Amino acid sequence: MSLKDKLDLKELPRHVAIIMDGNGRWARKKGVARMFGHRNGVTPVREVVEASGELGVEYLTLYAFSTENWSRPPEEVKALMALLVSTIKKESKKLDDNNVRFSTIGDISQLPNVTREQIRHLKEKTSTNTGLNLALALSYSARWEILKAVRDLMNEALDGKVKAADIDEEKFGSFLATSDIPDPELLIRTGGEQRVSNFLLYQIAYSELFFTDKLWPDFSKEDYYAALLDFQSRERRFGKTSEQL
Ligand code: IPE
Ligand code: IPE
Ligand code: MG
Repeated sequence: MSLKDKLDLKELPRHVAIIMDGNGRWARKKGVARMFGHRNGVTPVREVVEASGELGVEYLTLYAFSTENWSRPPEEVKALMALLVSTIKKESKKLDDNNVRFSTIGDISQLPNVTREQIRHLKEKTSTNTGLNLALALSYSARWEILKAVRDLMNEALDGKVKAADIDEEKFGSFLATSDIPDPELLIRTGGEQRVSNFLLYQIAYSELFFTDKLWPDFSKEDYYAALLDFQSRERRFGKTSEQL
């Protein structure tokens, strides 16, 4: 029996965010180059996208490349960018056929032209789709995002378009990269590290966190169902007492 059958489809998170970690260690364990791990990380991406669509999760955000990842060896960065382009090319028809709407969060102005071009193309192609909203976090970090929001808000204030007193959660949220995405109810990190690595710091204020030792290339649909099932066992109190819920 699949864990899928145990899920309460009416109590799914609307938005799942995933820190896809452990590709390098997966490769090292096999005695092969790190890039081999990254290439094998594409299959689980396909799996969680598919599973999310099948279950009816509305938003899926995948941390694919952080601001800090630019500091990796140049060959690895170059190979990751190439993998991104080839993967988008290969998967774009299937994503579109499956009604997935594709977007990115992050400073994509930093990406090579060819990569940006592929991204723009896939965004355009899928912009009217109504199924799963898939966002890739690329050249993303939460501190970059928050500082950009503050800068943009300051400029609007200086132009007289916004008053300090009007800046509430809704207003501030509209300046974040996730302005059209609800906060994730569930954040999953694979690869065994129990940290957030500069991902969605503002948005995960009340997210449930799920850490697994599974390395990303080994993460399967069943592992995803296990995380969702664990989420469904949690009591989300939002500061209240159990009795109040
Ligand atoms: C995650 O896997 C992918 C990216 C950060 C691009 P890693 O490359 O971080 O794998 P480990 O953590 O070294 O095993
Ligand atoms: C986080 O993984 C970033 C992505 C998964 C894209 P890292 O491997 O870069 O994180 P740290 O450096 O171990 O915290
Ligand atoms: Mg890592």
